[in-house]
Amino acid sequence: MAPKVFVFDSGLGGLTVLSEIVRLRPDVQCLYVADDAGFPYGRLSEAALVARVGDVMDRLIARFAPDAIVIACNTASTLVLPHLRAAYPQIPFIGTVPAIKPAAALSRSKMISVLATPGTVARDYTRDLIRTYAAHCAVNLVGSTRLAGLAEAFMNGEEIADGEIAQEISGCFVTDGQARTDCIVLACTHYPLLLSEFARLAPWPVTWIDPAEAIARRLDHVLREELGMSEGAAAGPHRALFTGSRPGPTLEAALLRRGIGENLLELLPLHAADALKSG
Ligand code: DGL
Repeated sequence: MAPKVFVFDSGLGGLTVLSEIVRLRPDVQCLYVADDAGFPYGRLSEAALVARVGDVMDRLIARFAPDAIVIACNTASTLVLPHLRAAYPQIPFIGTVPAIKPAAALSRSKMISVLATPGTVARDYTRDLIRTYAAHCAVNLVGSTRLAGLAEAFMNGEEIADGEIAQEISGCFVTDGQARTDCIVLACTHYPLLLSEFARLAPWPVTWIDPAEAIARRLDHVLREELGMSEGAAAGPHRALFTGSRPGPTLEAALLRRGIGENLLELLPLHAADALKSG
């Protein structure tokens, strides 16, 4: 039986992780879940986000019974994983957290930036990662309120002015005498969707760290070692489920390019949309 895996995000960012999963484990049957009715997660209070993700997960798990769940969202993973694991101890959850450890190991100047949502930047979890793995580095946390939305617009085929992106990433580029930032952690899964624009607009070349491949490897490890599911025959087209609005034609084409089946998009009605208003 093909492993059934949820790949979950607030919107389209998790597609960057889905691509790597499909490349590494073509036998995995993915259900891509975009909680676009709750987007953007970066602006939610911690209590509202825990409630929101818990609510969406309760409904989806009851309906689809996945073998494993990838939370392809830093903003959610840095907060809600302990809650989800306690609620569903039988399901392995694979999180996506800022790749601070590899950045600290890779950086030569020991000046690294972490580009993320305001939520991820504010988390104790992120501060702990820095203390544990990057105490020897100058770590610059950059919270962007706009980039995830710009990435969504880009995926929907909208033109994004260079200046808008340049302004959001400019805080990542720091100099200190002769030294300057040489590694930038893409700590929101939406950001790799804009990677070619980031690289083009960067004031100097840096290494951009996208954890997607490492997440796919972690999922493969969990499937093999914890669930005894080694690689089988390639799975059929994947499905995507949106909690808010049905994707327009440009986005649908982008989903198709990622192997997500044409007629399998559906909407999940959620009373959580009401909870969000008060959250
Ligand atoms: N893609 C999400 C992340 O990795 C966040 C985007 C948002 O909803 O603010 O953090």
